[in-house]
Amino acid sequence: MIELMKKTDLDEVLAIEDEAFACPWNRDYFIHELDENEFSELYVYRLDDKIIGYVDLWYMFENCDLSKIAIRKDYRHQGYGDMLLKEAMEAARKKDVEFMHLEVNVRNLNAIRLYRKNEFEIVRTREKYYENRDDAYDMVCGLIRKEIRKVLAIESSCDETACAIIDEDRNVYSSIVTSQIDVHARFGGVIPEVASRMHVEQISTIVDQAIRQANVSMDEIAAIAYTVGPGLIGSLHVGATAAKSLAFFYDKPLIGVHHLKGHIFVNEMIKPLEYPLMALVVSGGHTELVYVQNDQDFKIIGTTLDDAIGEAYDKVARIMHEAYPGGPVIDRLAKEGKTTSQLPTPKVGDLNFSFSGLKNAVNTLVKKETEKGNEINKNDLACCFQETALNCLISKTKKALELYPCKCLVLAGGVAANSRLRELMQENFTDIDLILPPLKYCTDNALMIACAALHYLKHGKCVAFEYPSQPSMSIED
Ligand code: KG4
Ligand code: ZN
Repeated sequence: MIELMKKTDLDEVLAIEDEAFACPWNRDYFIHELDENEFSELYVYRLDDKIIGYVDLWYMFENCDLSKIAIRKDYRHQGYGDMLLKEAMEAARKKDVEFMHLEVNVRNLNAIRLYRKNEFEIVRTREKYYENRDDAYDMVCGLIRKEIRKVLAIESSCDETACAIIDEDRNVYSSIVTSQIDVHARFGGVIPEVASRMHVEQISTIVDQAIRQANVSMDEIAAIAYTVGPGLIGSLHVGATAAKSLAFFYDKPLIGVHHLKGHIFVNEMIKPLEYPLMALVVSGGHTELVYVQNDQDFKIIGTTLDDAIGEAYDKVARIMHEAYPGGPVIDRLAKEGKTTSQLPTPKVGDLNFSFSGLKNAVNTLVKKETEKGNEINKNDLACCFQETALNCLISKTKKALELYPCKCLVLAGGVAANSRLRELMQENFTDIDLILPPLKYCTDNALMIACAALHYLKHGKCVAFEYPSQPSMSIED
């Protein structure tokens, strides 16, 4: 998100300014723009607490001039320029600006392409406009636009009941999630019948809360989306029934979303996805390498032959008498541990995975040591298990990218929250556009279903009321 520039941002801004422009503005000029130019508004774009770009807009009644836009050198050519421009256009729209205008060097083909993509048109050429006598194009874009559609989405496939409302620009109006984890933790895992009953208890309140918090009327909602599968059948039914009731009552189209597509598309909260892309989907029920040719074409090129990675984390935690869900616990323990004992690396051909042998090896090791009366060093064991399991994910993903070259690599699913996996992804995939989902959107939520639903909506893919929930639906369907 962009925010207004402050003087404390200037050190970072000036560093970008110096590397981006032949005639950079100096600190005094920026201060003048901030303090004295009442027509100017400077915005910075922040990512992980770093400023990675900024824009300067000059407002003149219904017009606005994009007088400057810059992206930090090491973040260029990764879609951030597009994101920053879109946000600047949105900021101008909010001030009721009708036209945005800019000048661009006729030789700056990348920038021209970016502006064209965002519906700027060349209106004239200014000859010898720059100091070096290069020509400039005047480009203009109309900012008044058609209605931006909003969707309401419901997720209830496992043990989270969630509802969210977002629009096509990925503005979030509300996103409410309640988790049943505390209840299931008592049993060491999700009990399906308990889960569906708890969804029934929660669903109306959560939907109501999401609508109230969003402060939108149902007239503004273009479609109702819900998770159609995969998941626990009883839990899926609760979300489906709620969505169908809303769609029927308010006469809205109904969208049945594949849960894992939600985990993939939530990455758009960071930036637009580029195709073809590779998705490493790692959750409690799935471990898949998915080759995504475009937003409708998904091909599973690798999958687990037995346990899913999240399931393996949960079971290993249980072997160590730790709480459910085990993923976050192992993540935390492993931080304090060392790789002492050698666990067997799963050997599976192609791009497939297997984690049950590894889980059994942990079980055998714990049993043996306990029988000998030795205490288990949980930190070390967690660390050994985690390093072995995650290295499989990394090496298979590398192999997948060699066989299926992609523009972009995304991590998706609950296990994407794992701190070591995020670290390893960043270390190992430096020459591809890598997108890691924000931590708060890794585990199940409805915002991810809404993000995917916008793609279904774009392609007019709605479902009928009798469309059944599908507990073991494939992402290829
Ligand atoms: O995607 P998700 O919320 O539900 C499914 O669709 O399955 O994923 C839940 C899984 C659980 O197995 C949980 O242990 C795992 O994600 N998980 C983690 C972490 N946080 C959640 N695994 C490893 N490290 C974590 N920090
Ligand atoms: Zn999930």
